[in-house]
Parts: sequence; structure tokens; C-alpha cells
Amino acid sequence: MIPRRTKIVATLGPASSSPEVLEKMIVAGLDVARLNFSHGSPDEHRARAELVREIAARHGRFVALLGDLQGPKIRIAKFTDKRIELKEGDQFRFSVTHPRDAGNQEVVGIDYPDLVKDCGIGDELLLDDGRVVMRVDNATADELHCTVLIGGPLSDNKGINRRGGGLTAPALTNKDKADIKLAADLHLDYLAVSFPRDAADMDLARRLRDEAGSDAWLIAKIERAEAVADDEALDGLIRASDGVMVARGDLGVEVGDAELVGIQKKIILHARRHNKVVITATQMMESMIHSPMPTRAEVSDVANAVLDYTDAVMLSAESAAGEYPIEAIKAMARVCCGAEKHPTSTKSGHRLGQQFERCDESAALAAMYTANHFPGVKAIIALTESGYTPLIMSRIRSSVPIFAFSPHRETQARVALFRGVQTIPFDPAALPAEKVSQMAVEELLKRNIVQPGDWVILTKGDSYHDSTGGTNTMKILRVGDQ
Ligand code: G6P
Ligand code: MG
Repeated sequence: MIPRRTKIVATLGPASSSPEVLEKMIVAGLDVARLNFSHGSPDEHRARAELVREIAARHGRFVALLGDLQGPKIRIAKFTDKRIELKEGDQFRFSVTHPRDAGNQEVVGIDYPDLVKDCGIGDELLLDDGRVVMRVDNATADELHCTVLIGGPLSDNKGINRRGGGLTAPALTNKDKADIKLAADLHLDYLAVSFPRDAADMDLARRLRDEAGSDAWLIAKIERAEAVADDEALDGLIRASDGVMVARGDLGVEVGDAELVGIQKKIILHARRHNKVVITATQMMESMIHSPMPTRAEVSDVANAVLDYTDAVMLSAESAAGEYPIEAIKAMARVCCGAEKHPTSTKSGHRLGQQFERCDESAALAAMYTANHFPGVKAIIALTESGYTPLIMSRIRSSVPIFAFSPHRETQARVALFRGVQTIPFDPAALPAEKVSQMAVEELLKRNIVQPGDWVILTKGDSYHDSTGGTNTMKILRVGDQ
């Protein structure tokens, strides 16, 4: 069987916290477990993180952990009776002074002092991911007066967005700061930052991460209209991050669903060109919250992201709170494998005609060029400290599996997110230098990944000790000749 290259991120929640369900999810192909800090207590996240690592180790699997910060999602306050029902044409007000727990049919409080300043007459406000839409007709010093354009139920603490973006709360809240410490404590492999506006927001997150003593790679969630307004804004955010997420829920609300598919393709392309990982997220298999099989439209959506060459596809409520978390992973795995058979998944024109910036980058890309053009190459071995060498390799479309050989637990987990990359624990520093290549190839032979007579490409640097960025050598080895 050809191994799946596209990775699966699944959000953990009440539906996926028992050891039995988690074990089945890991066996079914879970690569990255997402802890959503918008829900659940620190103790719940800790228990899930420990369980994932324990079960993965038992099955010889490497599953990364991703913490997702809640961020400054702007929310309405509460209603006296929990929820109201709005009809088209109704008048409704948002107030920064109205009591926080006493919303009613006419008005609700909101914890965002700049609301009036940030909105103008004629603006459209979207509640609950766009389910309810209002137009701003008027403003006073502390209230917006609106007309309901699309009615529906509105309940406590629902999110609010402005069409076109522009509600500008700072990206990191006090809760986020506490959760960054929790992420450090749990040794999470990735940390996703919600609603970053620009590189400065990511720089702040990086500083807080460093201060907390975490080495998690930072994922910028692209979910504001401002972040995709032009190439400069998007590339600035990408450069300041270790990876990005196409966070289609809020992004779709701000830019409109019609623009979303094109923007997804652009974000994925730009991330890969900058040597960054990319996750495609939100509502990928939404109907599986209540159904054991996806709709054709969902199958098509996941396959489209695979053809766009995303590193990973993500499950949200499907795995966190749905009735079929295991089936959802199986369905995603199946659809990924199917889409990967399409010829566009293996042909690459990646950065042809562009200059490279680094020595290790040049060696890694040369290895991929060779792998894609020399029949008989069955595997690529990248000796790596941080995962950086296999990351660059996996930016290229290919059907040849990439194996990240590393002695570090962090790196072994981290590469679980990279498309086409698997890990094999390996410590070159513990071996006589002249034996390293041979022993590495033997690891693949032992696992039946290659046979005598196959070709293998191996990259390494001159030193076998803590030398991230040191890759400068590519070897072409024939299995059995060592
Ligand atoms: C291993 C190899 C080194 C190489 C390094 C690259 O440690 O033994 O020779 O320089 O990986 O690590 P990187 O983090 O840049 O992929
Ligand atoms: Mg979001």
C-alpha cells in the first residue's frame, strides 16, 4: 500500500477523549491532535495530551500536539433568557454599556470598547459565523443601531465579525498568554495564533513563547480580511510564522464565501514557496458530525485541498463533538489517498526559475529534483536536527516518501505535520562516522520500505552533532551496495 502523504489534524473534545476512541483515531491515521483552548480546562487538555502521547508510543506512531489559542474573537454578551429569535427587518442594538448578562429582544452588551469607533453607517455585521446579518443604521457614543437583514436565533456569547474585516482587537489576550504557558508546560509541538493582523502580532507571540520556555512552532491562522488584502500583507504574516492555517470559518465570514476557494489556493501556494507548512481547516466534513459518511461536496472539498498541495486537512467539531470521530478520520484518509493518485500531485514546477537562499535549501531541493527524475529511487533519507531539511524537501510535489531521521522527540513529532514525511528515530552521533549511511539505509530495509537494488537518496551535513542548517551533502545509494 502506498502510504498517505497528506496529514490529518483532528480536534480533540468530549467526543474524542476516551482512551478507546483516541486509540482508534490514532490507528485510523491521526497525525496531529489539536487542543482547542477556546473550550475545556487546562486539566482536560493535559489529560488529552498525555493520553495521545501514551497511545501513540504504544503503537509506534508519532503524533504531534497542536494548541490553538482562542485569540481576541469578539463576542456578544449574554441574554437574560439565553437566546432570542430575530426576524428580517427587526431593529437591534449592540451596546458597550448594557449589563453583560441582560440582553433582550432589542439590545445586547458587547465587550469591545472600540465597537462604535470601528464601525460606520452602512457596515454589515455578521453574527454566529454569518448566520445572522445586520446593517448598521446609526451610532451613538456607546451603541450601534442596526436593522436585521437575515434573521435567525442568536444566543449567548456568539461571535461577531464585520464584513470586510476591521474589528481590530489586539491578537493576544490575557487568556492566550496563560495558555502559551500551558503549551510550554505540556511541551506542545505547535501553537496556533488566532486572528493575527500582521507580522508584529506573530513576533509578540514568538517572544511570549520564548519567555515561557516553549519551542513550539508557530502557526498563523489566516482569518482576517486584512491578512489577505494584498500579497504584501499575506507574505509578511507567512514570513513571521513557521506555518499557516487557512482558517476558513472566520475568513469566509469576512471575505465572503465566493472568494474563499481562490484565497485558499493562494495561501497554500505562498506558504509553500516560503518553505512553510500549511493546514486547511474548518467544515471539511461538517455533515459527519451527525452522519457516518461525508457528502460528495465534502469529499470534493478535501480532495481539492489535497490537489492544492496542503500539508494537512483538519477536522473540527467532526472529531471534537461529533458522533463519528473515527469514521471522519477514516473518510479523510481515504479521500486524501485517492486525490494523491492524481498526476498533479506528483509533478512539480516548484520555484523553477527562482534563486535559492541557503546551502541546505539547495541541497534539499537538488535531492528532490533527483528523486523525481531518477526512476528506481524509492525513498529519501534526511538526517535532521530540527526537521528543517525534510520541511524544504516536502515543499516539492513528489511521490517518493521522505524519511526524517532524527534523535529528537520534538523533531520526530513535528514532522508529523509535513506532507509526505515520516520519521524514523536515529542518532548519527552515536555511530562511527563511516557507518552512518549504511545504518540509515538498513533502517529502511528492516522496515521493508526498500529492497536490495532500489535507490535511496540521503542528505546530511559534515557534522553529526547539533548542527541545524548544516545539510550540505546529497548521496545516491544503491541498497545492498554499502
Ligand atoms: C543532522 C545531520 C547533520 C545535519 C543536520 C541538519 O544532525 O547529522 O549533518 O547538518 O541534521 O539539520 P536540520 O535541522 O537543518 O534539518
Ligand atoms: Mg477562527
